[in-house]
Amino acid sequence: MTDQVEKACVIPGMAEYPRNHWYVIAFSREVGRALMRRDCLGDPVLLYRTAEGEPIALFDRCPHRGMPLSMGRLLGDVVQCGYHGFEYDSAGVCIKVPSQDAVPATMCVHRYPLVEKWQWLWIWMGDPALADPALIPDHRELGLEDPSLTSEPYFILPIDANYLLALENLVDATHITYLHEGNFDTGNVAAAPARLEQQGTLVRMIREFKNEPVPPMIREMLSLKGDRVDRSLILDNYSLNMFVVRFIFTEPDYPETGERVNNLVIAVTPGGPKSVYQFAAMAQTIPDRRPNRIQELETVLRQDKVALEAIQQMFDQLGPERCPEFSVKADANSLRTRSMIAEMVEAERATESNGARPKPLRRRSDRAVASERAFR
Ligand code: FES
Ligand SMILES: [Fe+2]
Repeated sequence: MTDQVEKACVIPGMAEYPRNHWYVIAFSREVGRALMRRDCLGDPVLLYRTAEGEPIALFDRCPHRGMPLSMGRLLGDVVQCGYHGFEYDSAGVCIKVPSQDAVPATMCVHRYPLVEKWQWLWIWMGDPALADPALIPDHRELGLEDPSLTSEPYFILPIDANYLLALENLVDATHITYLHEGNFDTGNVAAAPARLEQQGTLVRMIREFKNEPVPPMIREMLSLKGDRVDRSLILDNYSLNMFVVRFIFTEPDYPETGERVNNLVIAVTPGGPKSVYQFAAMAQTIPDRRPNRIQELETVLRQDKVALEAIQQMFDQLGPERCPEFSVKADANSLRTRSMIAEMVEAERATESNGARPKPLRRRSDRAVASERAFR
C-alpha cells in the first residue's frame, strides 16, 4: 500500500450483513417473562423466556396482518397477538385462530437459533442448519470465563450509524490519542509502532510501551503503587463482531505488583442499515469497584458514538459521490475488515443463488492477506 490511497466511500450506505454468523442480541438479564423487541440485521426479533427459563427468539411479525407480536402478551409460553388474538407456541407455530376451529397448517413465524453463553444471548440470523455453537468465540479466551479474572456485563450503547463504521472504529487504535484524549492514553498511541498477528479467526494488533507515565484514572482503577508503567495495548478482533481491548500493565519500580489485566469486551451487532449496538463487558484481575467506573467507560464509548453518528450524517447529507475517503497505512486493518465482510456477504449470496446452502466463511481472504502484508 502506498502512504495514501484514495478509495470510493460506499460503506455507510451498505445494508448487507453476513447472516450465517453468531451475533449477541441481548444481555441475559434483559430477557425475561415480558415480551421484548430488538432489531437485528434489519429483522424485528421478539425475545422472551419460557416459564422454565429458556430464552426464545421469534420473528416479530404476526403472519396474519403484520402486527408486531411483541405488542401482544404471553400466556404461559404462548404468545398471543394483540390484534386478533392468534396464538403462537415457543417454536413459532400458530396453534390458535380465535375466529375458526382450524389453524392453517403452514402458519408460523421463524424461530431463530439462540444460545445463552456467559451472560449474553447469541442469535443466528441465517440458515438454522448451519448454526453451530462451536463457531461462537471461546469465552475463556475473551476473558469472560477465565477463572483468574472477574467479569461482569456493563451496558448497551446504541449508535445511529452503519455497523461497519463501528467495526472499523474498534480495530483502529490511532483515534484513541485524539478522540479519547486523556482517558486511556498519555498521547502516544497514535504514533506507536504496531504488530499485527493472525491466529485462525482472531486478528490481533499489539502495541507496547515502556516506562511511561500512567493516567490517574488507570492508576486508581488498577490500584497501582507508582506512577510509571510498562503497558501492552492489544486489540483483539474475533470473527469480525467480537472485540477485546486488552490493557496489560506491570510496574517497573514495583515488580511485586505483578501483572494487572483489564479486558474491555465489546460485541457489535447491526440493528439495521443505520443502527448498531455495542454490548460492553469487562474482565479484570482486580474488579474495579469505584462507583463511577461504568459511567466513565460509557463516557469514552459515547465519544465514539458522537463521532460515528456525525460521519453517518455527513454521508447522508452529501451522498456517496461526495464522500471519498483517503486511507493511510494505519487503515490497513479497517480495510481488511471491510473486504472480509464484503467477501462473506458475497459468498453467502453466491451459494444462495446456486441453490446450495451457504457456508460460514472461516478462511482468510486473499485480499486481507495482501493488506496485512502491505501493513508490515
Ligand atoms: S395481526 Fe396478528 S392476529 Fe391479526
Ligand atoms: Fe474509541
